[in-house]
Amino acid sequence: MLDNNVLYEKVKNILYSLTGITLAQNKDIMISNRLHKLKRNANYTGEIEDLLKAIENGSYTMEFINSFTTNKTHFFREDFHFTDLKNRVLVDHAKKGQEIKMYCSASSTGEEPYSMAMTVLEAQEELGKKINASILATDIDTNVLQYAANGIYRYSKSSKEFPEWIKPQKYFKKRVKKNLASEEILIKVKPELQKMITFQVNNLNDSSYPFEKNYFDVIFCRNVLIYFSSTDQNKILKKLFSHLKMDGTLYLGHSENPHDLINYVQRAGQNIFIKKKELS
Ligand SMILES: C[S@@+](CC[C@H](N)C(=O)[O-])C[C@H]1O[C@@H](n2cnc3c(N)ncnc32)[C@H](O)[C@@H]1O
Repeated sequence: MLDNNVLYEKVKNILYSLTGITLAQNKDIMISNRLHKLKRNANYTGEIEDLLKAIENGSYTMEFINSFTTNKTHFFREDFHFTDLKNRVLVDHAKKGQEIKMYCSASSTGEEPYSMAMTVLEAQEELGKKINASILATDIDTNVLQYAANGIYRYSKSSKEFPEWIKPQKYFKKRVKKNLASEEILIKVKPELQKMITFQVNNLNDSSYPFEKNYFDVIFCRNVLIYFSSTDQNKILKKLFSHLKMDGTLYLGHSENPHDLINYVQRAGQNIFIKKKELS
């Protein structure tokens, strides 16, 4: 049997090679919990060492990736980004009458791209003008993509997830699920939001992405770079930047920074960057 330190080092190496995610030194408990999750997800009853060998040989990779990603998210997370999207970017696009193409590059269970879609519909109503918008939402985790495509969420009345300018009842159908002990409120996103979004797998760590260059007007890359080394964050940002149009907007998470892009962008708010120059 492998010593735990050797086992965890092996896990870290596999995780890095499949996803680019770098785990810090103090993550032993997390790794141990995720290994249990992996065995359950893979329905594997043998020894963990044998499962890891199988993964190194190309089996169970999806189950491995899905067990090791961290998917924490919520609707309108860092809501000032959606306010900027509505009041600046969408106003500008509506004026020009142009279609807006948006990319959500680590969409997790879908709350982020659905928040983008709700923002479009709010802007449309405020401006009294139709805005043609499409949203590509990708993640490396196939489970969360499936969850996102289903569009069903738990709702708590005390939830502060929605900003004042969003009335959730406009965008969700409420379903109450009763069982003996409790009552659970589920909300399902309405088809007009779902129609705007395409969910697809993409690994940000791949050497290139399957989209056209200079294609997107808006890219959300939030709370995912933190899982990568500084060198890999920079590489991912440069790849994403090549798919952003000139004058397009990049939104990063609260503790993320634009690395080498800093000389090619103009800051438009907290972790909001407008592309001003192509990378040389
Ligand atoms: C913490 S969630 C952030 C979700 C959302 N962007 C937000 O800000 O609320 C990070 C997401 O990044 C995804 N992820 C991790 N590594 C990835 C990779 N190499 N390529 C694409 N997505 C990845 C995870 O599966 C997870 O769903």
